Amino acid sequence: MSKAFFPRNFLKVYPQAARGEGCFIFTSEGKRYLDASGGAAVVTIGHGVEEVARAMAEQARTLAYAHSSQFESSVAEKLARRILALVPPGMQGRGRVYFTSGGSEATETALKLARQYWIERGDKKRFRVISRKQSYHGATLGALSVSGNVRRREPFAPMLAEWGHVVPCFCYRCPLGLTYPECNVDCADDLERLLESDGSSDVAAFILEPVAGATLGAVAPPDGYLQRIAEICRERGILLIADEVMSGMGRTGRPFAVDHWGVTPDMILFGKGIASGYAPLGGVIAAGHIAEAISGGSGAFLHGFTYNAHPVACAAGNAVLDYIERENLFAGVEARGRDLRASLEPLKRFSIVGDVRGKGLLMAIEFVRDKATREPFPADMHIASRIQEDVLEAGVMTYPIQGCADDMRGDHILLAPPFTITTPMIQTLADALTRAIAELERTHLAGRGGVPAAH
Ligand SMILES: Cc1ncc(COP(=O)(O)O)c(C=O)c1O
Repeated sequence: MSKAFFPRNFLKVYPQAARGEGCFIFTSEGKRYLDASGGAAVVTIGHGVEEVARAMAEQARTLAYAHSSQFESSVAEKLARRILALVPPGMQGRGRVYFTSGGSEATETALKLARQYWIERGDKKRFRVISRKQSYHGATLGALSVSGNVRRREPFAPMLAEWGHVVPCFCYRCPLGLTYPECNVDCADDLERLLESDGSSDVAAFILEPVAGATLGAVAPPDGYLQRIAEICRERGILLIADEVMSGMGRTGRPFAVDHWGVTPDMILFGKGIASGYAPLGGVIAAGHIAEAISGGSGAFLHGFTYNAHPVACAAGNAVLDYIERENLFAGVEARGRDLRASLEPLKRFSIVGDVRGKGLLMAIEFVRDKATREPFPADMHIASRIQEDVLEAGVMTYPIQGCADDMRGDHILLAPPFTITTPMIQTLADALTRAIAELERTHLAGRGGVPAAH
């Protein structure tokens, strides 16, 4: 029978996900997968939590939907208050939370909010949003415009705006060829240099992932980087947008990753973990001065989606936060992250493992052809995908990505398990990776004479 569903990739055969329970997804054929990537860094509290399902059903029975141009709802207000309580103190007091249906919509909202903020302030020429190379802020055209992921941009390039990208902060492959701490985080000053050379009078904002998620593979900046970025934005009078769609909601060991460096942005974007996959939900946390530019100006933000602040999605968000609070899950991420790192570190003994990195429960393993020079594998060897497929065979889900080295080359596997992952499960993951990496190193690569000696 021909299929009706439009898949991500017509060339792939996908298993049928039938049921989720805790850290596992079960297929219709009864196969069990350990969800070591939390889908795409989405699942925080685990699958199949009954109380979340109950809260959503209860909300659907009481009020499933009311359009945000006509009503507000207590469930959205409650969730907004709880999210505000998690952000840096400087954003709490008069801050506001704008709910969307996911991360890309959150980015679109932030781009337009930044633009309208400046219009409200009478500075109509500001519209450009600078971003970083090798970043990802979403799939929609505005979000893709500020993304620096070459692969994802390429086919759609004629449809995208080009507002300027600066180098990322990536010490393992420093784009400036420098070494921390002697570099003095010169990569941050790339923003200053761009603003200097380009003229910054039309720049509205700078957007970055505080911990670079998918494209670079769980890259946390060294101390001083984010502080310097915030300083440049402040000095130049441009807004700082922290995209925490992946790194937020506890994933890196703090409610938001900016907390690690004591930085207070003007906006924080969230998504993924906020509802742990139980509902499509995301949004923008706007600091008081951003919201007040609108409330004290024209009064209306000229933007909106049909499903803004969807009551059932917000009920899911509240129920997920209830669970996180009761089980003290945010506090556990750091310790779980340490366990995960300790179990992955031994993988460095393989000649094809270049780096094991990350923060909290957002980790990545980068594969290299030559450990000494850090030369990546040719892209068409699809090393990350091959590892992922082997690990999947062993019943473990990981997230393979290419492009961290030079946009096209550079293979890594992203790991972002639920916060409820246990020590035995971490061991299962490490064992599956060890076997897959050892096998790849031995069979496929040694057979081709393509593997360098271990360094
Ligand atoms: C940092 C970041 N921003 C935005 C997005 C887009 O979110 P969504 O896929 O929910 O639209 C993603 C998705 O991976 C992301 O990692």
